Amino acid sequence: MLSDKMLKALNSQVNAEAYSSYLYMSMSAYFESIGLKGFAHWMHMQAKEETIHALKFYNYIHSAAGRVTLKQIAGPPTEWKSPVDVFEDTYKHEVKVTGLIHDLVDLAIKEKDHATNAFLQWFVTEQVEEEESANDALQKLKLVGDDRSGLFMLDREMATRIFTPPPGMEAPAV
Ligand code: FEO
Repeated sequence: MLSDKMLKALNSQVNAEAYSSYLYMSMSAYFESIGLKGFAHWMHMQAKEETIHALKFYNYIHSAAGRVTLKQIAGPPTEWKSPVDVFEDTYKHEVKVTGLIHDLVDLAIKEKDHATNAFLQWFVTEQVEEEESANDALQKLKLVGDDRSGLFMLDREMATRIFTPPPGMEAPAV
């Protein structure tokens, strides 16, 4: 059974993951607007992943006999200065989400909630990948700099990203 504190924190994370999805959809729309369809696709896949993250929390709360209460999702930014600017924000955002996940683990330990702690370990591992993929793209963009042909090559690479939902979450999202 979830404590009131744990339930409130897990519900906040549903909102944080839904916001992440919204943020990456907004970034996808920005890339569409500047003609970088590969980057737009990458961000669209990222938004799908975030929807899955939100649903994983949603499902877990129900499994643990808790009540899901959805809150308003804040509006994301809509404009960026450049692709590098977008990925600097992406990386910063993922580092922030890692902090939120770690805070949830700390709370689960404090509340002696071993089941929630075990559930959260998937996200602890996932956040390592999330930070890595955002930082990889950021570093590549920085290397490319003002080279237009390099940017278009990178755009083609970003277009190849495939979305693979985790086991049990195969239903289409977004
Ligand atoms: Fe749900 Fe990108 O972390």
